Amino acid sequence: MENNLPVNIREYQELAKKALPKMHFDYINGGAEDEHTLRENIAAYGRIVLRPRFLVDVSNIDMSTNLLGYDMPSPIMVAPTGAHKLANPEGEVATARAAASCNSVMVLSFSSSCKIEEVASSCNAIRFYQLYVFKNRDISETLIRRAESYGFKAIVLTVDTPVLGRREADIRNKMIVPWNENLEGLLSFDDLDTTDGSKLEKYSRETLDPSLSWKDVEWLKSISSLPILLKGIVTGEDARRAVEAGVAGVIVSNHGARQLDYAPATISALEEVVKAVAGAVPVLVDGGVRRGTDVLKALALGARAVMVGRPVLYGLAARGEAGARHVLEMLNWELEVAMALCGCRSIAGITRDRVQTEGDRI
Ligand code: FNR
Repeated sequence: MENNLPVNIREYQELAKKALPKMHFDYINGGAEDEHTLRENIAAYGRIVLRPRFLVDVSNIDMSTNLLGYDMPSPIMVAPTGAHKLANPEGEVATARAAASCNSVMVLSFSSSCKIEEVASSCNAIRFYQLYVFKNRDISETLIRRAESYGFKAIVLTVDTPVLGRREADIRNKMIVPWNENLEGLLSFDDLDTTDGSKLEKYSRETLDPSLSWKDVEWLKSISSLPILLKGIVTGEDARRAVEAGVAGVIVSNHGARQLDYAPATISALEEVVKAVAGAVPVLVDGGVRRGTDVLKALALGARAVMVGRPVLYGLAARGEAGARHVLEMLNWELEVAMALCGCRSIAGITRDRVQTEGDRI
């Protein structure tokens, strides 16, 4: 197979399906309820048309950009996704090495199956730490202190998960994610009632706090000096509120369509958020990015960077660290080609007029 590597993300998805037990592939691949938003996250990119400009010298393409003061060779980052050991026994350590070899910023999930310390020592690239806030705030604070002391550069607070979305494949498969070793000594899992339905859902009900509110953003700011990005914003109203709350960035995300079904496709919500934020802080987007052209579309609509979730897991499941790296390399290559073919020499050159959305055509 090594002589016959996949040439796109879709082929990695097929390989991952073959490589994994059904329960684990379904967990990675699936979305909430009717999976309407899951399909839309990808389909909405398809409805945006590119407007290439020619006779521009594109012999040198510069994909470098900057986020929170850190230089990045490309605007493609690794989204926080849980339980990488389901995809490969090396888990997040392999993903972190893959991200580091491409100098891609990796956001480590709270639900990582490897310890924060192990991941940190495998990855000398920039890392952010994604947080869910526990009912017991002391546990969250302990995790933040560990992330701070191991050199994570920002906290990504996921706000779209006050409760877990209904992922029907996981309920049917009685899916349970591996024990989160980062919680060793902090939380006991033994007395959880796991007699029916999705065990993951029950575990999450114990650990997520549905009372999370804007006051907790204040709390987070008061206990950590790391910049805070809010992940899961899809409306202009919440984006404005986030800026008022003093966050360092906003991530337009619907959790890869795993939470609220019929939430907007993220690429459709992006411009509303960008307008509301009005340049005050960077706006990132994730969900449905499968091509370099998708990255270019997101940047043209105002995103500073994009994150990819499932594609990295497909690569990891199919070929371990080498697969995750190849997925990131392929997306970067595709972006480079897309920029050249659209006449964009630099990230700043990817302007709004390079895309035509459905709204533009009305
Ligand atoms: C996720 N996502 C996620 N988000 C988060 O903030 N914390 C988490 O622990 C997880 N876990 C997780 C597991 C799996 C298997 C998936 C697929 C996704 C959401 C993730 O960060 C991101 O928003 C989406 O994956 C982006 O969509 P694509 O790129 O998967 O289409």
